[in-house]
Amino acid sequence: MLNIVVINGPNLNRLGKRQPDVYGSTTLQDIEADVANLASELGVHVEFFQSNYEGALLERIHQAADDGAGVVINPGAFTHTSVALRDALAEIADGLGFVEVHISNVHAREPFRHHSYLSDIARGVIAGLGTYGYSAAVRYFAEMEG
Ligand code: DQA
Repeated sequence: MLNIVVINGPNLNRLGKRQPDVYGSTTLQDIEADVANLASELGVHVEFFQSNYEGALLERIHQAADDGAGVVINPGAFTHTSVALRDALAEIADGLGFVEVHISNVHAREPFRHHSYLSDIARGVIAGLGTYGYSAAVRYFAEMEG
């Protein structure tokens, strides 16, 4: 069965409370419940992980590489700062690949959010579609790889 890991980086555990004008009122638990329902409908296996720590995210990505999983990742602010995250995700890119998701349209925001260390090695990037981006990414894997 196709295995997908949905990974959320720093501050995304605060969804629903944090800047609702930018990120909306949906919580991370709501998103994970919706994606879990979608995954069972599509017949794919999905796992979830969130951390505010860069090293913990790297180790979860290493695990996904060992499992041969596809990755859906909202790397939060590490998108714009982390070469280490890029290096870990490069291993995923050699396998099923990863989709980079942003709830907000980072290109319509501050200039420092316009650059991603990850986008050029991602299968695709979804930004600005709100929390629907996670479902769209899981659908992509199910349709292309399932
Ligand atoms: C974000 C955009 C990032 O710039 C920001 O640091 C986040 C969330 C998004 O989902 O829109 O934490 O990845």
